[in-house]
Amino acid sequence: MRQLLIVCLYARANERRYKTADFNQQTTQSMSPCPFPRRRHYKEPCYRVAAVGFGLLCILLLAAVTVLATNNTQLQISYNIPNDNFQTNYSNLVKLIDQLQKENAALQKKLADLAKHAQLGWVYFSSSLYFISTEKKSWTDSRQDCSRKGADLVIISSREEQEFIIKQLDGDKAWIGLSDRSTERVWKWVDGTALTTAYWAKGEPNDAGNEEDCAEIWSSADRKGWNDVTCSRKERWICEKLDFQW
Ligand code: BGC
Ligand code: CA
Repeated sequence: MRQLLIVCLYARANERRYKTADFNQQTTQSMSPCPFPRRRHYKEPCYRVAAVGFGLLCILLLAAVTVLATNNTQLQISYNIPNDNFQTNYSNLVKLIDQLQKENAALQKKLADLAKHAQLGWVYFSSSLYFISTEKKSWTDSRQDCSRKGADLVIISSREEQEFIIKQLDGDKAWIGLSDRSTERVWKWVDGTALTTAYWAKGEPNDAGNEEDCAEIWSSADRKGWNDVTCSRKERWICEKLDFQW
């Protein structure tokens, strides 16, 4: 009996394998060496229900994907979004970050440069840096000092600049980059340009003693403006670095 049971177990196992491989059920029944009748619940409906369920699920998913794809296309059409919108935005963002990083680096460099100048006594005004000496030198020696500093004697080209310098001088006087040494009474700036708008003090230039060819700026309460004076006189001086842009 025990042996028969084992034979039966093997036989049923084989039948299941045959069925999986799509064998005819009748054939497996007739081939079976097992004399016991097959149990009623051991048959296909389970697989069939699962297969049908799976099929239905697939159909549902397909329907859902179709609906979503249609909606997406309609959204793209109604909002005029290009297909490669994400890619375009991403590469634009990368370019923007790169540009901002470069601008930031340039700005940091400018800031460090400005801090260095400020430490040496330079003052910033309207795209220029100004240095007012405490020492006194002749007009030519003053100009040389400016040149050593990467600048030149100041060129005053607006009323605002004139007022700014007068304020900085605080009652004192200093050389500016103007002279008529080449041709008497033809005043020229150190960059070679002719004088157009002048801010001479009252009664100046007077070429006192026929020997005043260099210009200084006065900032005292009673005498404000430019004066011509002997170039060899020792005075304070003002250097200017033009075009210090941000
Ligand atoms: C005069 C100036 C002159 C200066 C020379 C002043 O009193 O007003 O014109 O350049 O003396 O030191
Ligand atoms: Ca004078």
